[in-house]
Amino acid sequence: MKLLKTISLLLPLTSAAVLPREERVSYDGFKVFRVTTGDSLATVQEKLADFSLQQWNLDTSAHIDVAVSPAQLSNFEALGLNVTVMHEDLGADIKAEFDISAVSGLKPRALPDASWFKNYHPYNDHLLFTKDLAATFPSNSEVITSGTTVQGRTITGIHLWGKSGKGSKPAIVFHGNVHAREWITSMTVEYLTYQLVTGYGNNGSAATAMLDAYDFYILPIVNPDGFVYTQTTNRLWRKNRSPAPSGNRCIGTDINRNWPYQWDIPGGSSTDPCDETYRGKTAGDSPENKGLTSLITTLRDTTGIKLYIDWHSYGQYILTPYGYNCTAEAVNQAEEDQLAAGTAAAIKKVGGTTWTTGPSCSTLYATSGSSTDYVGDVGKAEHSITIELRDTGANGFVLPASQILPSGEEQWAGLKYLIANL
Ligand code: ARG
Ligand code: ZN
Repeated sequence: MKLLKTISLLLPLTSAAVLPREERVSYDGFKVFRVTTGDSLATVQEKLADFSLQQWNLDTSAHIDVAVSPAQLSNFEALGLNVTVMHEDLGADIKAEFDISAVSGLKPRALPDASWFKNYHPYNDHLLFTKDLAATFPSNSEVITSGTTVQGRTITGIHLWGKSGKGSKPAIVFHGNVHAREWITSMTVEYLTYQLVTGYGNNGSAATAMLDAYDFYILPIVNPDGFVYTQTTNRLWRKNRSPAPSGNRCIGTDINRNWPYQWDIPGGSSTDPCDETYRGKTAGDSPENKGLTSLITTLRDTTGIKLYIDWHSYGQYILTPYGYNCTAEAVNQAEEDQLAAGTAAAIKKVGGTTWTTGPSCSTLYATSGSSTDYVGDVGKAEHSITIELRDTGANGFVLPASQILPSGEEQWAGLKYLIANL
């Protein structure tokens, strides 16, 4: 099926600074359907082939989630596919999800409080949140950066440590919002960070145990250009904002297909710049990947990396290595399986959500040049996992803000289990 390709293509200019302001992509009247596939995958794909639909998921073995424009709706419905409705009116749900006028106006240096987790937020407020959090925890944290984006933004996060002092314990690294539209990931990663900061020093608390045992390097938004673009222009953007290659009109590399490890294995990424999983021109050529690899290799060469989590949405998966090969097993695969299952059980206990666990490629789909394979094998992280957050398809990427806190709370429970059992 062809993906909707009308959005990214306005002008193949090389400098973001000279781009005219792009109009916001309207999803008013779009309906999002989950189409059952299973045994009828080939038939369904054939029927959908004539439509130019925006497809939300890459694993099509059980279902395909698609956004259908008002103009396509009657023809789509005439296909008589087996569907459930995810969004009755995507445009309306996007407006309800995030109202910038209701959430902006955060005060600099205000003590961040838990009301942050009631809403999604603009990028600049995320930066402020991180800085404010560090300011409330001056002896145990500092703001860190991990390189620069295509458009010159600084990939920003926070480093937290415990009683042994800065940089003395093995690293735990989190990356959030690598895919721009997966907004729940940065909010959830910030919730975990908030629990660590506010819980540290309470006698016997999990946060104290975690920070006294590990140094945390947390980057809630590793794709700020894409994230900003989802807020200004197209809510469903996934990739970074790298300029179209010469001779092409499509913008953006998938940062999670550009890591310089097993990058050119066929089947796990796309060589077409117009695809959502475009791998880039050469391995690790995106500025974001350059910046992110340098922190990973620095940590590898100093304290070592105990745990890496790349946070995504949606689907509720806990995925262990490998992405590039569906039969390759991690040396500690049995331990990984156990950790993932235990973490899933701990998460489920909080609110009853169910989580699928297993090796990434065989459980979900093949990915070449993905973060977890790189950080595991090149970064020598002992544990390198992907967590796909809520939900399992009721809302997908456009997850109501009322689910930020429940998502944070359940992941905090999962993280406590995971780290206590490393
Ligand atoms: N959904 C994410 C993506 O498509 C993560 C896939 C998991 N695979 C992996 N190797 N970590 O990029
Ligand atoms: Zn993702």
